[in-house]
Amino acid sequence: MKNLFIGFIFLLVIVYSNVVMSGDISAGEARYSQNCGNCHGPGGMGLASYPKLAGKEIDYLMDRLKKYRAGTKIGPNSSLMIMMAEPLSDKEIVNLAAYLSNVQKK
Ligand code: HEC
Repeated sequence: MKNLFIGFIFLLVIVYSNVVMSGDISAGEARYSQNCGNCHGPGGMGLASYPKLAGKEIDYLMDRLKKYRAGTKIGPNSSLMIMMAEPLSDKEIVNLAAYLSNVQKK
């Protein structure tokens, strides 16, 4: 009986962490529309010299956003992006990545 209970708790934790990890696409879209689209264009399609984000891998997008947030320079214009990524929370990064990665499949 005790093992069953522990198993159940374990399952809950796994299910819950999956929900957190998979990101909330509509929350990501709302966050994106606050200011990201000014540079990256509507739906992350890219604008002038600002890179396209739509359809890129979730892991890739999260990795980039975390690197920028940490102040890492990646390309020639990283300072712009470092400024933008600094206020992002982990949750916002997960949501943004989920949104941007899926935006093309609409
Ligand atoms: C002031 C314009 C500007 C804004 C606003 C902006 N970005 Fe960027 N973003 C850039 C530039 C410029 C780069 C390329 C930086 C470099 O050279 O490393 C970039 C790069 C990125 C990359 C990496 C792309 C790749 O393929 O490597 C991601 C992901 C990204 N931005 C997401 C976002 C998100 C999410 C937001 C909103 C929170 C945002 N950006 C807001 C200008 C902007």
